Amino acid sequence: MNLNQRIEQWLQQTRNAFAGGQHAAIRPLVTLSYAQSIDGSLTTRPGETLRLSSDAATRLTHQLRSLHDGILVGIGTVLADDPQLTVREWQGMNPQPIVLDSRLRLPASARLCTGNGKRCWVLTGRHDAVPRSDCELLPVTCNGNGHIDLVTALQLLHQRGIRSLMVEGGASVLTALLKAQLVDAIVVTIAPRIVGGYKAVGELGLCAAQPLPQLSPLHSQQLDDELIVWGNVQFGGAAA
Ligand SMILES: NC(=O)c1ccc[n+]([C@@H]2O[C@H](COP(=O)([O-])OP(=O)(O)OC[C@H]3O[C@@H](n4cnc5c(N)ncnc54)[C@H](OP(=O)(O)O)[C@@H]3O)[C@@H](O)[C@H]2O)c1
Repeated sequence: MNLNQRIEQWLQQTRNAFAGGQHAAIRPLVTLSYAQSIDGSLTTRPGETLRLSSDAATRLTHQLRSLHDGILVGIGTVLADDPQLTVREWQGMNPQPIVLDSRLRLPASARLCTGNGKRCWVLTGRHDAVPRSDCELLPVTCNGNGHIDLVTALQLLHQRGIRSLMVEGGASVLTALLKAQLVDAIVVTIAPRIVGGYKAVGELGLCAAQPLPQLSPLHSQQLDDELIVWGNVQFGGAAA
């Protein structure tokens, strides 16, 4: 079985297990997927684009996109990378693109607004915003930090039919989801480079005496020069 087949089979098993669990009625299955350097950096510094994935790893990312109902990124990633979030290097359906954007900074010129993919959903705290033709605004409550409340956001996505959600970053969003224990699975591409830059996961507020979130069971496979690591996330010894 090749890597793509292994990932597809694992994701199907993850989906089946999630469907039988307590969270399936209220939120989608959440899979984090990103590329990092050997030292855990996503990029050199926030706002800067660094291509860490090879063509083969990019194909894997596109395969993963095709296996999820929705794909979510933070507005920081949109402003830095201007991604399309479509399935181009694999055969399959485009997932629903979704952006976390409390203050509605998404520019009309973004490829998510101008491309041929599905109309982008923007989770925003701006309840007073005028509707836009280039994207669909979904007003959501914000937390004490002024960011989108993730529990409410995931519930809304579930109500709108999203049963599986792939999250491609950036670091602020990956960290916030992990902190809130709203992550079920992770697929990481580890590139053999040392960046010493902006880390994929920031402060989670954990201490050494606490059980740390871990991937279990752990899977890995080398893909050209990169290492693909994936698994289900267990928080404090119990599945999310
Ligand atoms: N290597 C990779 O795989 C990869 C993948 C993705 C991105 N990146 C890189 O990562 C960098 C972007 O990361 P980033 O951390 O700056 O931005 P980000 O995580 O993409 O977006 C962060 C922004 O999302 C908004 N947001 C809304 N609700 C939030 C919540 N509950 N929690 C956290 N954020 C929330 C906030 O802005 P508002 O308050 O305005 O809403 C926040 O500043 C870029 O340089 C990009 O190139 C790399």
